[in-house]
Amino acid sequence: MPNTIVIGAQWGDEGKGKIIDTLSERYNVIIRYQGGCNAGHTVIIGDKKYILHSIPSGILRQGVLNIIGNNVVIDPLKFLKEINDLRNVGLEVSPENLRISDKCHLTLSYLNKLDEATGKKVETTGRGIGPTYTDKTKRIGIRTFDLLDLKRLEGKVRENTESTNYMLKYCNATVLNVDEVMEGLSEASEGIIPFIHPNIGSLILGYDGSLLYEGAQGTLLDIDHGTYPYVTSSNPTIGGAFTGTGVYVNLENRIGILKAYTTRVGNGPFPTEQDNEIGERLRKMGGEFGATTGRPRRCGWLDLFIAKYSIIINGFNQIALTKLDVLDQEDTIKLCIKYELNGREVRFEDFTINRIEEYTPVYKELPGWKKNISEARKIGYLPENARKYIGFIEDYLGSKLQ
Ligand code: IMO
Ligand code: MG
Repeated sequence: MPNTIVIGAQWGDEGKGKIIDTLSERYNVIIRYQGGCNAGHTVIIGDKKYILHSIPSGILRQGVLNIIGNNVVIDPLKFLKEINDLRNVGLEVSPENLRISDKCHLTLSYLNKLDEATGKKVETTGRGIGPTYTDKTKRIGIRTFDLLDLKRLEGKVRENTESTNYMLKYCNATVLNVDEVMEGLSEASEGIIPFIHPNIGSLILGYDGSLLYEGAQGTLLDIDHGTYPYVTSSNPTIGGAFTGTGVYVNLENRIGILKAYTTRVGNGPFPTEQDNEIGERLRKMGGEFGATTGRPRRCGWLDLFIAKYSIIINGFNQIALTKLDVLDQEDTIKLCIKYELNGREVRFEDFTINRIEEYTPVYKELPGWKKNISEARKIGYLPENARKYIGFIEDYLGSKLQ
């Protein structure tokens, strides 16, 4: 199998976990390159349900090496718990099947506190993600490498706790002392050190030609290309795969995951949102509650204009459509095919994500199929109207759906 990357084409929760899990049968190496435990990949194998946050889903399969690249942020306490939880259900987690870059930035408790105190506007997952990336770009971040020397770690923790406390005080939040921040870190270091690798890039190159890259979040949550400032703090888009691992490889298969409708969790623009009984039905049919936070997801129609934007940013050459059966009960299904600004069509060349709130979506309506299609395993088994829905998307995007 050639090198493959899987990226969410919307605002996350497109069903990446399921696709990656299916693909992982054919790959020996899976790589995470950005994000942290804000991600939640739900994988169902047989009658067991696993929710993974920081560790790639290849950990559920024997003989797969899972690599965590430098631009993934790690909460050492939660990371160790994720490892132990997997071990407790009988899975092997060892340096044989999990390696983590020595350059990953660490989310320590003062950063979690800061996210709680400052993340309300964006409605973040509260996992300290934004503040961890902030410290990274401020050049005061603490990395996995620092876990190797507890004395040095404590010195850095002291400096950062003290400076963060100023901000926490400003936000009327309770401040932390160094001992509180250091709590559990010695044990976490011990647990994590065996997985730390000094040169993830060269490790990856050793398997070039059979790599599977797993993106967390989605294109519209990208810090640069998403609905800023209502985004996450990393680059889920394709460029992130290179900066997030430190090595260039040819990504032959670039798979965009597109849910047959749209969801987003947290605040921010969402042109096709259905804040009504349609949205409620989609949420119920699709089980649209956050895997990480349990929050109900906002639901709406598929936005093909946004899908096209994602294709261009990521250079997708394959699109996988997920959760089509969630639309089973709809009489009529709508798809956003263009935006208008002051009554005039927005040409793609003039489209800017900065103005997304000013645009009005224009819809195409297609008849529903009103049948349970959840057992259909081949396109040919689908009712005609479902095939027409797929055909319309394929024609619009100029891409065959998988
Ligand atoms: P997966 O990998 C959906 C959203 C949050 C919030 C914004 C910023 O499961 O698709 P952050 O905690 O990252 O600073 O929050 O991004 N968000 C996600 N939404 N799925 C995710 O991951 C998300 N990770 C972050 O809801 O709006
Ligand atoms: Mg999620």
